[in-house]
Order: sequence, then structure tokens, then C-alpha cells
Amino acid sequence: MDTMTRQDQLDKALLQSGRNLVTRFFVLIKTAQNYTAGHAAIAPAVEQLLAVIRTMHRMNAEASLQLRGGYLFLGDLRLKPETVGFEAFSFMMNEMKRCFIGGINFFPEVSPTDISGFVQILLRIQSPPSLQTFSELQNLLHAARISHIELEVLTEKTDYAYTDDAARMDSKSRARRIYFQAISAVDDIMSNAAKGKSLQLAKAKRVVQGMVDQLISDPADLLGFTTLKGQEKYTSNHPVNVCILSMLVGLKAGLTKNRCCELGLSAFCHDIGKTALPQGLLDKETDLDQKEWQEMYKHPLLGVKLLLELKQLDNLNARMVAVAFEHHRQHDFSGYPRLPYQKMSLFSKIISMADDYDALTSSRVYRREAKSPDKVIRYMLSKSGKSYDPVLLKLFVAMIGVYPIGTILLLNTKEMAIVVKNKPAAAMLKTPLIKLIASAAGEEIDGEVVDTAELAASGRAILGVIDATTLGMDPAGFLV
Ligand SMILES: [Fe+2]
Ligand SMILES: [Fe+2]
Repeated sequence: MDTMTRQDQLDKALLQSGRNLVTRFFVLIKTAQNYTAGHAAIAPAVEQLLAVIRTMHRMNAEASLQLRGGYLFLGDLRLKPETVGFEAFSFMMNEMKRCFIGGINFFPEVSPTDISGFVQILLRIQSPPSLQTFSELQNLLHAARISHIELEVLTEKTDYAYTDDAARMDSKSRARRIYFQAISAVDDIMSNAAKGKSLQLAKAKRVVQGMVDQLISDPADLLGFTTLKGQEKYTSNHPVNVCILSMLVGLKAGLTKNRCCELGLSAFCHDIGKTALPQGLLDKETDLDQKEWQEMYKHPLLGVKLLLELKQLDNLNARMVAVAFEHHRQHDFSGYPRLPYQKMSLFSKIISMADDYDALTSSRVYRREAKSPDKVIRYMLSKSGKSYDPVLLKLFVAMIGVYPIGTILLLNTKEMAIVVKNKPAAAMLKTPLIKLIASAAGEEIDGEVVDTAELAASGRAILGVIDATTLGMDPAGFLV
């Protein structure tokens, strides 16, 4: 490996701090959205952001976030959104656009009071993005005597001309927008559930309808987003991923669009009972002991209670209740809760399968080691007829492929590639489309997309699967 110059090392450290700045800022805004001003939960988030700002100043760098040409920059360094933390990047860019901000500079003198005051002001801004909105923001900062945070106005056309017109977006941009709308819808559901408010499913219903349309027209891009697993332990990525995977199985199983939407909403809410569990249990870093598992086993029943409190008990609600209750039961009726009756709804069967797939490929749900997607598929196939309904599992594998999207492959040429798309026909399950991501010399490349059915023509062959998690790679970085 080449020796890094001092400048390279400095840039690398700065980039890391830049990513931390974005992530910490995102966590702070999210926390402030969920609690009233001055709540004890906000202070630690402020301190964490401040710690990053101080680190940057100690490195003699400016703690200055800039939005230029649709990207976030730390000074002149572009912060890549395609690494872990995409959700935070996307959110921060939208927040800046929403308030017509082109740059945020944190001066060395900035205090916790300045930061929490600034965030409260950001949350108060409701007017549409415009120069007036930016002036309103400046006035509020001035009135609150916050002088150690300096804002720059959005100037670049590419940024403020950002359009909501879905029709003009390419499929990937549309998939990205839908994915993050879904994250926001699940965030709302979970925070309302945690506060004991009614769930307000109207927004989630609209989002799920958009997801079904996208899955019918072009599933690959949205499926690619399921490789995003979120940064914190219990993020909304998990319910959203489970929703995408379940609805794809539902469509393959021939469910109508309306039923698929219901399936998606049920997936959004399958773990809703966890909002009634103590935060300490959900955040625990180490393995749960027996007593803690007994607590965790309660989340299906807690979910039922929460959903039953929804005012109207229509068909949809009944299906959601069944999923919340049954999603940890298995095809052979083992799992939990243990019950004398031997029945499980179709929705529960589909969602429990998608739930396991997302949990097993993610290190953040249930603290397991993440497994590579192909290993998870092989494991699930070994449980066909026991944990999973064999017919539904076949549909699942047919949809996701033997090498699911996000699988990293090693070729005989020593190049590395990532699976970007699977073909719809069952006979072509073993020949996905791959994109070259590393040269034979091990350098990262933005390579071409190759059909593995035609690999032999270029003298290439698949040698095997690389376990991205053991190498510390993040497949989502190449896909979203
Ligand atoms: Fe669960
Ligand atoms: Fe789950």
C-alpha cells in the first residue's frame, strides 16, 4: 500500500470529522424534533456536536458546512454522501435547502446555548424556501443573540432549483426520494407511538402507494436501498427495508396493489411494540441476558396493544395487529409468542421472512454479526419448511436472487464487483448484473456494469463471494 502523505492523512481525518459533523447535527435536529426545548435528552446531542466542532478547530480547520452543486462540502473537501450515514447527509442537505442556507459556519467560541438556540430556530422555520425565509432565519438568530454561528445564503442554481417534480427524476433519484420519504413516515409513526399519540397513517399510506408503483415499474433501485442499514441501532431503515422486501414478495405472489399497500403498512408497524420497551434495553451494546430477552419477547404483544388503540378497527388494522403479534412465529409454529393455535396470516408469513433477511444482513438489529446476503439466503433455504413457508421462500429467493443486490464478488481476474441487479426470470437467478468496483491492483474504480451471463467472453469468472462485513466494507456506498 502506498504511504500516505501528511496532507492525505489530514484530509482523511478532516473528512471523518466532516461526516461526524453531519451525523451529529442530524441526530441533534431529530432529537430536538422529538422533545420540547430544554428537555434533558437534547443536551447530550448538543455536547456531541460541540465535541466534533472543537475537534475540527483543534485541527486548525473551519467547522463549516457548505452546500454546493448538490453536494455537501467541508471547506473545499467534498463529503461523500454514499458512505455510511446517507440518511444524515440527505436530511441535512434538505434542511439547508428548506431554509435556503448555502453554508453554516461554527466559530470556535460557539456555546451549547448557541447551538440549541439555533436548532430551535431551524425547527420554527415553516415558510417555503426563498430569500425571505433566509432573512427570517437571520433575524431570529440576531434576536436570540446567536453570533458565533454564521449562515450563508444559498446561491447556486443547482441547489435552489432542486425540484419536487418526481416525473423529471431518473429512477435512482426517484427511488432515493421515496426511500427517505418512507424513513420519515416511519419516524413519525414511531415517535407518535412512543408519545402515546394516534399514529396518523395518512402520510405513510401515500408513501407506500408510491413505493408499490416504483416496485412495479423498476424494483432494482429501491431494492438497492435496502442495503442501507442505518447508523443507530434502532433506525427506521429496518421497517422500511422490511416493507420493500415484503411488498416485492407480495407482488410476486399476485397480491393486488391495494393489498400490497396494506402489507407495506403492516411492515412499517411490525416492530411498533418496541417503542414501549425501555430505551436502555434497545440501546444495549452487549448481548441480552435471559431476563432482558423476556422483556424483548413482549414487543409483539405490546405492538398489539398500541395498534388496538387506533380508533378505527378496520380490515387493515386487523391485518397490522396480526403481523405485530405473529412476526416472530415461524412456519412450524415455533418462535414466539408460544401459542396453542396453529395459524399464521399470509402477511405475517411474508413479513417474518423479510424481517429475518434484513435483520441477518444487518449488524444493528439484535446485535448479531451481519452476514453477507448470499449466506443469509443459503441459511434461510436450509430452514425452508421449518422457519419459512417453502412456497413463499421460493418466491423470495426468486425475487432477490442467489447473489442478492449488494453482494460483493471476487473474480478470477482479482477484480471485485458488486451485484447491482438481478434478472426477473427464475432460470437466470445465478447470473446477476454486476458493477466492477476494484481493479486487479486493488484500487477503487467506478467500473462498468457487466452481465455475468457474458463474463466468460471477457475471460472473467466468479471465484466467490467476499464477506463485506469482515472487510469493513459498506455495500450501500456503491449502490445508493
Ligand atoms: Fe420484531
Ligand atoms: Fe423487525
